[in-house]
Amino acid sequence: MKDPPEERAGVADVDLAGTRALVTGSTSGIGREAALSLGRLGADVTVHGRDAAAGAAVVDELTQVAPDARFVAADFADVDAVRDLAATVRDETDGLDLLLNNAGGLFRTARTTDLGTEYTFHVNHLAPYLLTADLLDHLSEDARVVTTSSAAHRGPTLDVDGATSVDDYSAGWAYGHSKLANALFASELARRLDATGSQVTSNSFHPGAIPGSGFSRFLPAPLPGLVSALDAVPGVTSVRDGAAALVFLAVSQRVADVSGRYFEGQRPATPSDAARDPDAARTLWERSAALLSIDEPLAASGRPGAADV
Ligand SMILES: NC(=O)c1ccc[n+]([C@@H]2O[C@H](COP(=O)([O-])OP(=O)(O)OC[C@H]3O[C@@H](n4cnc5c(N)ncnc54)[C@H](OP(=O)(O)O)[C@@H]3O)[C@@H](O)[C@H]2O)c1
Repeated sequence: MKDPPEERAGVADVDLAGTRALVTGSTSGIGREAALSLGRLGADVTVHGRDAAAGAAVVDELTQVAPDARFVAADFADVDAVRDLAATVRDETDGLDLLLNNAGGLFRTARTTDLGTEYTFHVNHLAPYLLTADLLDHLSEDARVVTTSSAAHRGPTLDVDGATSVDDYSAGWAYGHSKLANALFASELARRLDATGSQVTSNSFHPGAIPGSGFSRFLPAPLPGLVSALDAVPGVTSVRDGAAALVFLAVSQRVADVSGRYFEGQRPATPSDAARDPDAARTLWERSAALLSIDEPLAASGRPGAADV
């Protein structure tokens, strides 16, 4: 393969034998390429998505290069399925070094989930929040949590009431707001972990605008086929470029001690003012726990002034 993600990320010589990774949304697109890349470096990878056939195909490829790989299906709109995913990871691994919160999408139709909240906010934000909460005490000492946000986070300010409702639904706003939630979640997680003295890092990133990923499935026909062909066009950000950014943040020594930051590709960037608002981050954290009816994760380090990142 020409220029695989691990080469683009400058980590092709890293040996990940013994490293346990969960890559959500790895049946397709950026997550799939990142999972394969981590497998080539020797990691034990848990592949996740809903599409069992696509998941089995990724596991097939992984087992040709890595000792262990498994697929676990979980619909992120289903709270019990997310909890089961966390339970399976806990059962089948003796710890987790890389938690890559990557699953997500833009959803054209307004709908609510069983939780009674709008689908995009639930799938893109509440599900990875819950998954991370359930896996916190399974993370290794120096684990990394990386969350795939988007430049689409620029624009909205935090509005949890608006985001949980389907009134006046706009797919673009719901997506951008969920990606703002991803960036706020990642920085609040970093701040709370730091306040406990944990070495675990948490960062978020924008992978680039990538026409060749499965993300084009959200476009009206016949655009998906036309747009995905752009992946091979020189100069267009490819799926492998997006995966390289995820692999860089997960593996590179250059960011081993970096936490609470937002990246665009492999470069640190300044997110929107709304994504840097510590009160919004704290509010989102507390409201998310309440919406999920769970105890607030890392509650003791959530108090104002408990340590700022
Ligand atoms: N492509 C871009 O231009 C772009 C730009 C900025 C950010 N992003 C972000 O990058 C991440 C990956 O997207 P991608 O571009 O690689 O798109 P993709 O090819 O469509 O991949 C999305 C992944 O998320 C999973 N997923 C979607 N809905 C799910 C649900 N309800 N439950 C469980 N899994 C679900 C899919 O699995 P199944 O199909 O098996 O359910 C798939 O593995 C997303 O968070 C997206 O917001 C993409």
